[in-house]
Amino acid sequence: MQIFGVDIGGSGIKGAPVDLDRGDLAEERFKVLTPHPSTPDAVADGVKEVVDHFGWTGPVGVTFPGVVTGGATIRTAANVDKAWIDVDARALLGERLGGLPVTVVNDADAAGVAEVQFGAGRDRRGTVILLTFGTGIGSAVFADGILVPNTELGHLELDGHDAEKRASTKAKDDHELTWEHWAKRVTKYLAHVEMLFSPELFVIGGGVSRKSHKFLPLIEGIRAEIVPAQLQNNAGIVGAAMRASKA
Ligand code: BGC
Repeated sequence: MQIFGVDIGGSGIKGAPVDLDRGDLAEERFKVLTPHPSTPDAVADGVKEVVDHFGWTGPVGVTFPGVVTGGATIRTAANVDKAWIDVDARALLGERLGGLPVTVVNDADAAGVAEVQFGAGRDRRGTVILLTFGTGIGSAVFADGILVPNTELGHLELDGHDAEKRASTKAKDDHELTWEHWAKRVTKYLAHVEMLFSPELFVIGGGVSRKSHKFLPLIEGIRAEIVPAQLQNNAGIVGAAMRASKA
């Protein structure tokens, strides 16, 4: 079965039909740049462009980089336009897509669901935490494969700051941190999350997971196993489609 997945990110809106049996894209994905300002109206147009590119007419799953309740309503918008807060994104996007059924899910939760089913978290019991490092830090927490949605561990406090302001890849780029320096911050962050949750496994996602060989060897003193995500940049798209298939 195929469902369409869209991933709304800080820099791009990308999507493709997803083959849910294989947990992979059925066609090469299509991407448009995220508009600035990233208002609901402008982003909805971007989502429409991506979906229309494939002439898709079925259900659509969409990720959003903030808290999403009930598969529909946006509650926070740390790295996108604040006008999103309290918007019923399911209604907005459904209307923009000419009445297609839409399910909206937090971006890290979507990536986590895909990794737990098809990637680095497959067949793992106990507590598994996926963390995505990008513009912000996203989190998805699983107990025996069951997701606790909207955990927002990127906003834990680290050294008196919002953790994602210290340890996201945007923080690395903005402050021109070396891999060594950034890995120290990530280590401190992981130690804090480990103190709170004692997971068996951390899965490291986001674009930076492709470069895991540059920083994972620099992370020491964490008891949990730490592995890079396997679906990498497609995890959000795949997970969004998986959630939409269950709506
Ligand atoms: C948001 C999360 C999101 C993460 C990654 C954070 O700033 O609060 O909801 O998952 O960024 O995009």
